[in-house]
Amino acid sequence: MAKKTKYIYEKPMVTLHSPFSLGKHAGMVLDSMPFNEIDGFSVENLLEEYGSPLYVISEKILRDRFREFRDAFISRYPNTMIAYSYKTNYLSAVCAILAQEGAWAEVVSGFEYDIAEDLGIPGDRIIFNGPYKPLPDLSRAVNNGSIINVDSFNELYQLEEVARRSNKVVEIGLRVNMQLNCPTWDKFGFNYECGQVVDACRKATDTGWLKVTGLHCHAGTYLADPNIYANLINNLVTLGVSLENEFDIEIEFIDLGGGYASPNTLHKHLMPGITTCPSYEQYADAVCNPLIKSLDKFVGNPRLILEPGRSIVDECMFLFTTVVSTKRSATGSKVVIVDAGVNLLPTAFYFKHDISPVHSAGVSVEEATICGPLCMQIDVLRQSMRLPPLQKGNMLVVKNTGAYNFSQSMQFIFPRPGIVLLNNGKSEYVKRPETTQDVRRLERVPRRLLTKKRK
Ligand SMILES: Cc1ncc(COP(=O)(O)O)c(C=O)c1O
Repeated sequence: MAKKTKYIYEKPMVTLHSPFSLGKHAGMVLDSMPFNEIDGFSVENLLEEYGSPLYVISEKILRDRFREFRDAFISRYPNTMIAYSYKTNYLSAVCAILAQEGAWAEVVSGFEYDIAEDLGIPGDRIIFNGPYKPLPDLSRAVNNGSIINVDSFNELYQLEEVARRSNKVVEIGLRVNMQLNCPTWDKFGFNYECGQVVDACRKATDTGWLKVTGLHCHAGTYLADPNIYANLINNLVTLGVSLENEFDIEIEFIDLGGGYASPNTLHKHLMPGITTCPSYEQYADAVCNPLIKSLDKFVGNPRLILEPGRSIVDECMFLFTTVVSTKRSATGSKVVIVDAGVNLLPTAFYFKHDISPVHSAGVSVEEATICGPLCMQIDVLRQSMRLPPLQKGNMLVVKNTGAYNFSQSMQFIFPRPGIVLLNNGKSEYVKRPETTQDVRRLERVPRRLLTKKRK
């Protein structure tokens, strides 16, 4: 006998549709469009096989984005190297795919350095950044010939010590901090405007153990204006040329860090990110044109290094989630509780994530707030979206979740779900779901607190 579907009764309600909300830029039409397939895989089937919630990665999208980014720069400035920023998403499978594509690794801790080493990335293809590099990690980077971008005077002197002990002159990059955008990032490196970076170069050179061969600047994240990069490269060129002349050195690389935007939409933005995010070509033009024009001023032919994170990995990852209950708030608005919270989507605090229903409901839309299952008021994935009327069991897909979600996800109240990779018609776990035992494995209860199990 065929299984009968039991429909849940929802009280009918009248929704006022404003004719303006049907316009080109209104969320209504976009939010209610069903999204039910990724690379030929049905979302519904994947959820049935692996359970909900679930992170899903498209290997094709990841490889495509990397190649498009690389080609945009290499076609303009062939001496370019891409070092993928591990912190953005250091899932081993993601890093391994990008390593296969030829990406170097940009790491900011011994932990990230371990991941790169475990994947077989040679030491001289690892770029070591970050404001805190403990001594053992610095020594390892020196021994392996990694590029070390020095962040502070303390680090510079610590590195001098490592170089002295290793009895070898260590080549370094200087991290440069400059005023480019608003609000300005001012935590990293030596200041450009007040001449601190020149001072750092002098101090490094004077040690006799450190040789400045590069300049690095990471100006911020989600920089949706290519002009910022044009100003950045112009300043680094001016600085590099003057350091070469003053200290008789050669600037062998200029590292522009990351920050290139992805199609996500910031909360404060009116227009959807997909319409405002510059293309890779626009970024590449902004960077390469000024660099090419100034090449003859340099002693050699500096390599351009880029450390993209979000612009490469954001789009390839999806978070699947399922409605567990619906209710009306005291004000009458609809609240939808799903099984994935902000602990799995911490970027919900910054972005109006693109969330789509898996099923179609024609033109019928209803305003709803999408909340996660955590016992916290702030556990909101999206405020007031216009989605088809949702019921328990309906599935939703959150798009562009590859950057700063998995690596910043938090085990809280619930164990974290698995991550599935899609490639060439095959789906497989690249991280299995966490269990209670996984989470509690490192804990220990002192013997005196143990109560005997009742028989
Ligand atoms: C030094 C450095 N490089 C690259 C990145 C990657 O930035 P994004 O993901 O914005 O491209 C970061 C991120 O904070 C960073 O600190």
